[in-house]
Amino acid sequence: MVNKPYPLLEVDELCVSFALSGGNPLRWNRPRLHAVNGVSLRMQPGETLGLVGESGSGKSTLGRAILQLEASTSGSVRFDGRNITHGLSSDITRLRRQTAMIFQDPFASLNPRQTIGASIAEVLRVHHKVPATAVAARVAELLTQVGLRPAQGNCRPGALSGGQCQRAGIARALALEPRLIVADECVAALDVSIQGQIINLLMDLREQMGLAILFIAHDLAIVRRLCDRVAVMYLGRIVEEGPVEQVFQTPRHPYTAALVAAIPELDPDLPLPAQPLVGEPPSPIAIPSGCAFHPRCQFARPACRTGPIPVTRHLAEHAFACVLDRTAGEFPLPFD
Ligand SMILES: Nc1ncnc2c1ncn2[C@@H]1O[C@H](COP(=O)(O)OP(=O)(O)OP(=O)(O)O)[C@@H](O)[C@H]1O
Ligand SMILES: [Mg+2]
Repeated sequence: MVNKPYPLLEVDELCVSFALSGGNPLRWNRPRLHAVNGVSLRMQPGETLGLVGESGSGKSTLGRAILQLEASTSGSVRFDGRNITHGLSSDITRLRRQTAMIFQDPFASLNPRQTIGASIAEVLRVHHKVPATAVAARVAELLTQVGLRPAQGNCRPGALSGGQCQRAGIARALALEPRLIVADECVAALDVSIQGQIINLLMDLREQMGLAILFIAHDLAIVRRLCDRVAVMYLGRIVEEGPVEQVFQTPRHPYTAALVAAIPELDPDLPLPAQPLVGEPPSPIAIPSGCAFHPRCQFARPACRTGPIPVTRHLAEHAFACVLDRTAGEFPLPFD
């Protein structure tokens, strides 16, 4: 593949906030919930980026805002070199044609009254992917590609298992021939063995089609298996990002270290971490000053509480927003 001078996806300082209900709707300073708070990231064609973080950290909102399914408050998204956030409607149409989303609930993402074949055919027709006479053959091809039998195209979602429905959802996404897929917790609702099958399918598709995948997940073990890089979100910000093995083996943010320490599959013989992640994340309506993680960080210093938001530091491809120096022993690794 010829390397283009720009990444497939460039997100810069993206913010998404929601006006809170109640109060005077005309008040200019009505309180807002900052779901995504200045996120920057890059994705190359064919790359799989894991996006992890506790519930409410803003992962789905970020995924939707990247695909322009959620309005951003500020910042920019560039897809294939074109600015989408302030772009031409033709660029947004192009983004819609080249991106797709796979959701957690495979049943909810398909029309229960339509056969899965019809729902895949609809995408092919709407986006003029193949001539009308070739639609049926392409539907059969897509079903086969995701490990379903072409005859299963005649089934409605209710007649299929969760795993089969998720395969159908992936076939529908693939009908677009996307270059980027946002997979939001797409295996979380499935049994473990089926999860493995869907992960293998995504890995195969990435190989065959050079798909870039933004893989949103709670399960760090799956992210480690599937992804090239991982970004860790906390209260709307990316606090650490880098190559998967580097981040998992030498996390540089105490939040990541706590998440990594809690991965059960890492080594079942290891004792559980002495200091697991305690408490719940604070509300994104009242984000703590300084480093937003400080109320839960056992290594926090006064500057973490009252100082500025930590700047993102870089060690080659590894980026982290923490003032502590792990190599100087300022916080131990989960495995130290
Ligand atoms: N449409 C909305 N209106 C108001 N608040 C919203 C809206 N959508 C999301 N939020 C809030 O934004 C924050 C981030 O939500 P989001 O769904 O992006 O988190 P998440 O990381 O995907 O969580 P989970 O892991 O549970 O899926 C949460 O506090 C959520 O309540
Ligand atoms: Mg979510």
